[in-house]
Amino acid sequence: MQQERAFEPKPYEGKTSFDQFLDWEELPVTKNFVVGDIRKLEVAPWRRRGGLAHYIILGHPKEPPNSAAYVCEIPPGQSLKPQKQMFEEMIYVLKGRGATTVWLEGGKKQTFEWQERSMFSVPLNAWHQHFNGQGGETVRYIGYTNMPMVFNIYHNYDFVFNNSYQFLDRYHGEEDYFSGKGVAVDARRVWDTSFIADIEKLNFHDWTRKGPGATNVELEFCDNIISAHITRSPVGAYKKAHRHGLGADILVIEGKGYSLMWLEGTPLERYDWGEFSMFSPPHMWFHQHFNTAKEPLKMLAFKPFGQKYQVMDYDRLFESTKGGGHLIELEDEDPKVRQMFQEELVKEGVPFNMPPVKYRR
Ligand SMILES: [Fe+2]
Repeated sequence: MQQERAFEPKPYEGKTSFDQFLDWEELPVTKNFVVGDIRKLEVAPWRRRGGLAHYIILGHPKEPPNSAAYVCEIPPGQSLKPQKQMFEEMIYVLKGRGATTVWLEGGKKQTFEWQERSMFSVPLNAWHQHFNGQGGETVRYIGYTNMPMVFNIYHNYDFVFNNSYQFLDRYHGEEDYFSGKGVAVDARRVWDTSFIADIEKLNFHDWTRKGPGATNVELEFCDNIISAHITRSPVGAYKKAHRHGLGADILVIEGKGYSLMWLEGTPLERYDWGEFSMFSPPHMWFHQHFNTAKEPLKMLAFKPFGQKYQVMDYDRLFESTKGGGHLIELEDEDPKVRQMFQEELVKEGVPFNMPPVKYRR
């Protein structure tokens, strides 16, 4: 089975190959630091894949992205076209129920079912097709991909979408591949799997290195280099600031508040968000998230890097800036950060729940 070849990127004239591909897709695109409730983003018919979609390219609007997300709707009883792709993707189901069939060229098909709050990935370059399993309800999911970097490196549609290479080291048709089984790597707070039926049922680990009362679980799928995590923070508390490269997209599952993001030596910039907002810190900008809701904060982060197949030194993200790492300890924070949070909590009638701090000069 071949997918139609229809797009040839031209040399750069103000647009990367990926930017040109986005134009060719003729879908609505939101490019910004923050996007509002993604459950309500307007979607348009998707010629290439079927269904309806809207691209979300987060981060600094002037910074060429290395990741791209999209929301996709599948109308009741319908399916998307079969697809394979030379970039990695993680899918989180926002609404509805359905199924995905996965196969390798000439191999046996296998199908697994999903619903709201399921999360999964399809092995790199395996054929797959998504189905809406309900006659009366729309499916909406968010897909997060590292398509821009792959598209820009090879700038060739056939290489990306009509490539016959099979990554048998990742997937060779194992029958229980999407059963929900996984491996827990507790020392790294990791759940390594292919499919999660309901993210609410995951085991969370202590993550107080990042902030008082914080817990988290890191998610690795299908031997990808991209990964995800879900973090919970208690009411009235916040996590320490840190920084890393571009492309980490954060989806707020529960809670409301704001993030401070800044490039070292420049003023703090504030971005407000609510449930199902998404945002992404630009390249090496410090970022710190503040929940002003009366309920704990829960965030799902999609990242272009993980821990299993590392493309950067993951552990340095959580070493203090004083030791050459990328995390600002509470004692090293700008006092304005805590003061702003306390003022916001007073407005919301939420008690402040952070331990006292003695600032280091
Ligand atoms: Fe981060």
